[in-house]
Amino acid sequence: MRADEIRSRFLDYFARQGHAVRPSSSLVPADDPTLLFTNAGMVQFKKVFLGMEDPGFRRAATSQKCVRAGGKHNHLEQVGVTARHHTFFEMLGNFSFGDYFKRDAIRFAWELLTEEFGIPRERLWVTVHYTDDEADQLWREIAGVKPERIFRLGDKDNFWQMADTGPCGPCSEIHFDLRPEGRRGTEVGQEEFEEAGERGGFLEIWNLVFMQYDRDADGNLTPLPAPSIDTGMGLERLASVLQGVPSNYLTDLFTDIIAAAVETVGVPYEYDSPQGVSYRVLADHARATAFLLADGVFPSNEGRGYVLRRILRRAVRHAYLLGRREPTLVLVVESVIDRMGTAYPELLGRREYIDRNTRAEEERFLATVDGGMRRFDEIAPEGGSGTVAGRDVFRLYDTFGFPPDLTELMAGERGYAVEGEGFETELGGAR
Ligand code: SER
Repeated sequence: MRADEIRSRFLDYFARQGHAVRPSSSLVPADDPTLLFTNAGMVQFKKVFLGMEDPGFRRAATSQKCVRAGGKHNHLEQVGVTARHHTFFEMLGNFSFGDYFKRDAIRFAWELLTEEFGIPRERLWVTVHYTDDEADQLWREIAGVKPERIFRLGDKDNFWQMADTGPCGPCSEIHFDLRPEGRRGTEVGQEEFEEAGERGGFLEIWNLVFMQYDRDADGNLTPLPAPSIDTGMGLERLASVLQGVPSNYLTDLFTDIIAAAVETVGVPYEYDSPQGVSYRVLADHARATAFLLADGVFPSNEGRGYVLRRILRRAVRHAYLLGRREPTLVLVVESVIDRMGTAYPELLGRREYIDRNTRAEEERFLATVDGGMRRFDEIAPEGGSGTVAGRDVFRLYDTFGFPPDLTELMAGERGYAVEGEGFETELGGAR
């Protein structure tokens, strides 16, 4: 099942259950200084959960554009290396604003996964917050999940919040068993479940948040006007499950984009190789670049614009590692617009603008990347070890345009540490 079909079947299912299907909101949250980027489906409904806004419906479903590249939820460092992390991704979600609560949220999720999408029941496991007897009971009663397949976890896993403040609540996650044939479907204890989860043996696919509180800056929890529901399921993960592939990057959301990158670069794509990592970073960052530019974020030296600049420059570095010395990301971005423009027409509407700005930023960094890479080789030669001084990090930034987190990443790849303080001191001195 192609991702486009998964997305529309999700939305159609919830439309049939009386939900208003709403468009994704912008990646730039409207009037919300607590958040850098929209990082979950509930963001556009924050004021509705808080009882400050009446949208005219009490149930909604969306496929929401999300970026997690800074702030509380940040995936930037893991992109390309893991099978599951993205700076940009799509979150499928259903929402209840004081309408249904745990019982129906669990019923809908189970029915959609097992009947609509046909996922075998014996491959699904669930977790609940350790205090949540009600959710535990409902999973047994409504979905017939066996007690030994329901684990109770702490706040880290089963309490969700958007940012340091705002709507939050205990949650319940559905996991898909990806262990090797033979082990699959066999019972595990909680400790083993958590360990296997870390190694990719269980994949979290859907998070059902039982929105109940508003957290203030002092950490106090005030009950929301009405208990509500916020769920989130990464389209890329669900596609990997339904397409039977072990990595989100092997789903059709990425294969066309990676193929376009391979065609441009000319180096073969092998999944388990340094080139494989570079291609995946290029594909991921091309998606983030296209969507952020479409939503009005412009590369700059501060705030949201600086996150975009860092994403872009990381991508250019990977194209450089693949041997490219001319604009490359812009061509990958083109393929993102081709692949995703039907689902997100804003990409088509701003195609020329997206291309022009990606190319300009790429050219700007390409003018200095070569010198910077050579400089970096002197500072942190391959095979060596030690610490990169703050003043060197600063020079790479100031003279060659290397964002400090990029230098840190490159240093880490070669086994070097980076001096924490020095960069800030130099930066302060230069101001
Ligand atoms: N807000 C929750 C999450 O991001 C569910 O959508 O996981």
